[in-house]
Amino acid sequence: MPNFLYLHRFSFAFTVVLVILSLSLPFSTHSFDFTEATVDSTHEAFANHSLTSLQLVQYYLSMIRNLNPLLRAVIEVNPDALTQAARADLDRERNSTSNNNRLHGIPVLLKDNIGTADKLNTTAGSFALLGSVVSRDSGVVKRLREAGAVILGKASLSEWSYFRSDHAPSGWCARAGQGKNPYVVSADPCGSSSGSAIAVAANLVTVTLGTETDGSILCPSAANSVVGIKPTVGLTSRSGAIPISPRQDTIGPICRTVADAVYVLDAIAGYDRYDAEATGKAAKYIPQGGYMQFLKIDGLKGKRIGILRKDFFDLLKNSLQGKVFEQHFSIMRKKGAILIDNLEIPNVSAIYQSGEKLALAAEFKVALNEYLSKLSSSPVRSLSDVISFNEKHKKEEKIKEYGQQLFVMSESTNGIGTKERDAISDMAQLSSKGIETLMREKQLDTIVTPYSIVSPILAIGGYPGISVPAGYDETGVPFGICFGGLKGFEPKLIEIAYAFEQATKVRKPPRLK
Ligand SMILES: *[C@@H]1O[C@H](CO)[C@@H](O)[C@H](O)[C@H]1NC(C)=O
Ligand SMILES: *[C@@H]1O[C@H](CO)[C@@H](O)[C@H](O)[C@H]1NC(C)=O
Ligand SMILES: *[C@@H]1O[C@H](CO)[C@@H](O)[C@H](O)[C@H]1NC(C)=O
Ligand SMILES: *[C@@H]1O[C@H](CO)[C@@H](O)[C@H](O)[C@H]1NC(C)=O
Repeated sequence: MPNFLYLHRFSFAFTVVLVILSLSLPFSTHSFDFTEATVDSTHEAFANHSLTSLQLVQYYLSMIRNLNPLLRAVIEVNPDALTQAARADLDRERNSTSNNNRLHGIPVLLKDNIGTADKLNTTAGSFALLGSVVSRDSGVVKRLREAGAVILGKASLSEWSYFRSDHAPSGWCARAGQGKNPYVVSADPCGSSSGSAIAVAANLVTVTLGTETDGSILCPSAANSVVGIKPTVGLTSRSGAIPISPRQDTIGPICRTVADAVYVLDAIAGYDRYDAEATGKAAKYIPQGGYMQFLKIDGLKGKRIGILRKDFFDLLKNSLQGKVFEQHFSIMRKKGAILIDNLEIPNVSAIYQSGEKLALAAEFKVALNEYLSKLSSSPVRSLSDVISFNEKHKKEEKIKEYGQQLFVMSESTNGIGTKERDAISDMAQLSSKGIETLMREKQLDTIVTPYSIVSPILAIGGYPGISVPAGYDETGVPFGICFGGLKGFEPKLIEIAYAFEQATKVRKPPRLK
């Protein structure tokens, strides 16, 4: 191997050339396949020295440069991402125990409503919050940094997590423009965690975080052929995130695989003194040893899966999707699951017409005003300031086109009064008499539904759900399958979702480039 002799003789010069080469040609690592890279394959490549974190971040930055003008999935890249990656590489060289952490050196993209105390802005996609300064990292970001993750940047979203107006298209925000579905660019990317799902689907990053109040993780995950975990409310801290409702908000991973999503969940779940009540209550659900142990290839075996037909799968009768779901059911049966068919959640329409919007409108004003008042500095300090900002910046914020009627409706509320308390207790009743009774009576491990149309049921109860890729329609637009459960059901849902994913392997990367 004459190369080694040269390397020896010119080792210094050679190293310099190598560094320059690796800086200018991040794709020259022949042996590592960046497309569809998983957390595990990335760690293998770190360990066998065919890849560094720095090269990985350089690769993703160039992917973002190439594809983001079309996809608009990323609002900002972190000017410190390369430094963080280089530090992770050094740390790995010096200290082999840092390798034990699954997210060490792994780039993460955060939905733009998740606060970071760094050079990145936290704006929920709106110009109104540009230049605002948060006082500390949000709870989940603190945990990601402790795990050694590289904060790659902020993902676009439906502006204000789709709580400004219900006339705007999903995936639109003033700062990034219209996010696009990478499979069929004219198709709905869904929201509100649109940028997170688009970015990870199009291989612009390894893993992402989204947030959900009602559907905002599950829906874009389904629409972009990726995996989303909507955790039980309080399992992950919401501190430092721009809120809608502390009663329903939750933060969770959106990733290409169930395993990647579970590694992220393991990193971010847990108590946070800045979200003490909710994270304290939910801490009891977190199993010793975390969630990774539930990535079991035979995870469907013996699981009791309730198929909701009325109001759910019945809507797809005789369609391609309907047929695909029937095939999935038979795979589940083959893998040892017990399917309990023809189930119905009582009063589904009452759930959809419950006072959710009424309660959210009042909760949003209280929670947002508190968030804004606690910022170290900010051009807006209240919902009413944001409304005035939008009136003054009609053009940039497309106020004529999309309006801000949810803001106006929320501003007209006055805290949690009798109406709101009634609505909240109605929702609790519907949950306990509906899904909880059904799941207990039939001893279900999960209820299965198409896409994310079950999201209001999971939202009002604070329940978890996992969306897994299920197929592509006639035009190539992805759709998902959703496994929902009661509070703390994550271990069962992960076993089911992982075994289902491994048995079906539906996800394909989009054909872009
Ligand atoms: C290192 O690991 C990666 C990821 O598994 C693999 O793609 C690559 O071929 C390996 N390279 C070598 C030299 O073993
Ligand atoms: C080694 O890595 C671990 C985990 O990242 C970290 O807690 C520890 O401080 C590191 N030790 C040294 C000497 O850098
Ligand atoms: C944050 O916003 C400011 C404008 O207020 C801008 O100058 C800066 O570049 C933004 N930060 C990043 C990382 O894009
Ligand atoms: C379902 O709706 C009916 C009629 O609207 C009502 O009488 C009943 O109490 C509801 N059941 C539940 C479980 O809420």
